[in-house]
Amino acid sequence: MARNKIKYVCSNCGYESLKWIGKCPSCESWNTFLEELIEEKKTGRKSHVSDHQITKLSEQVVESEKRVKTNILEFDRVLGGGLMPGSVVLIGGDPGIGKSTLVMQAASKIDDDVLYVTGEESANQISLRAKRLKVTGEKISIMTETDLDIIIGGIKKLEPKVVIVDSIQTTYKPDFENAPGTVTQIRECTVELMQLAKKSHCAIIIVGHVTKEGMIAGPKILEHVVDTVLQFEGERSYSYRVLRAQKNRFGSTNEIGIFEMHDDGLREVLNPSEIFLSERDKHATGSVVTSSIEGTRPILLEVQALVTPSSYGNPQRVATGFDYRRLSILLAVLEKRANLRLSVQNVFLNIAGGIRIDEPAVDLAICCAIASNFSDKFARNDTVVIGEVGLGGEVRSVNHIEKRIHEAAKLGFKRVVVPFNNIKTIKTKASIEIVGVENLSFALNKVL
Ligand code: TYD
Ligand code: MG
Repeated sequence: MARNKIKYVCSNCGYESLKWIGKCPSCESWNTFLEELIEEKKTGRKSHVSDHQITKLSEQVVESEKRVKTNILEFDRVLGGGLMPGSVVLIGGDPGIGKSTLVMQAASKIDDDVLYVTGEESANQISLRAKRLKVTGEKISIMTETDLDIIIGGIKKLEPKVVIVDSIQTTYKPDFENAPGTVTQIRECTVELMQLAKKSHCAIIIVGHVTKEGMIAGPKILEHVVDTVLQFEGERSYSYRVLRAQKNRFGSTNEIGIFEMHDDGLREVLNPSEIFLSERDKHATGSVVTSSIEGTRPILLEVQALVTPSSYGNPQRVATGFDYRRLSILLAVLEKRANLRLSVQNVFLNIAGGIRIDEPAVDLAICCAIASNFSDKFARNDTVVIGEVGLGGEVRSVNHIEKRIHEAAKLGFKRVVVPFNNIKTIKTKASIEIVGVENLSFALNKVL
């Protein structure tokens, strides 16, 4: 018997090497190389092409774009209107964040037959969860299996419209000698499921755990293979969960779905602004409300800042839910353009509710929150603050300004501070005072 040879594969990007290396030359991550066996290539494959394998584009029958609705509004929106038959969706997230709960709830609401394959839990555990979620499994078939060949057999036998594979890390192909969860196994299993989905026109949802680097194990490899990559995220200590599209062949990647975890499962959050502002202390310095666009929806969020003198030479800067580097830039702008001596202060920034935002339109609110806490002045609590801040301290215009203003008016705010350059495009009839600001110092005067 031929001696099995060993290769080393980067668990992050799939780069292969014959010897172990500490730093991946492809994705530059450290200590990601794991030992795997080199699989024997099967020889003698046929390369004969039959006539029906090549067709004219004009002869292709366009399949109707009938999507399978999960009937969970937030989920369907992120998918771009439901599951596309013949497509593969990867849902990634930290262990315990609620992926299995989400797919189980979706399974129960789908109008067609669903096959739920699990390698993570026993049938008993599944039924306990179903009981907790008050799911009656009329159309759901459960298969507790990890062997991909048997799973595929099950899919071919049942011919369901939707298949859920929970999780890809526990699924393996016995033809390969590598253990389940290795890059080779994950890739081969996903490719095979993808081919099956295309052939049988069922939609397949694959659940994947995220490695501690914050990526779905072997993300780069799987991203090319699957049609849609969704990330289910949230802070463990908060009950909110956000479903975000990272890649979507059949929809926008801007949409997010917001859920709240309860004792009886995930509930959709259809009015996120109200919920995110519900615990706001209107009489605290360092709290400012802003309007962020997530996908097509405006969401009002509370930005909180705490500024304390630093007793050591090296002040701390901590940002939760916001990019740390962007915070450093805004602090430098506040120091230089608004004369706030922040370089000797610890600055802690938090986006309340465990939400993460990365659009520049929240810059001005962040600056106002920091300035408010630093100078011990209240920010006006009837005001929503919107605007991007440039390095020169100028307030730059943002997109979707009317949507943002409407949301503020809808929730009863009396005043909105917006970039001056946006003013001429605003035609809203909403009853709210609109204040245009050109630069940071002027904005601070209007807000504090
Ligand atoms: P789970 O869906 O098993 O997470 P994942 O599949 O991503 O690993 O969810 C696990 C957590 O969710 C667990 O800590 C318990 C909690 N949970 C609830 O709070 N309410 C519920 O109804 C369910 C089913 C789980
Ligand atoms: Mg799970």
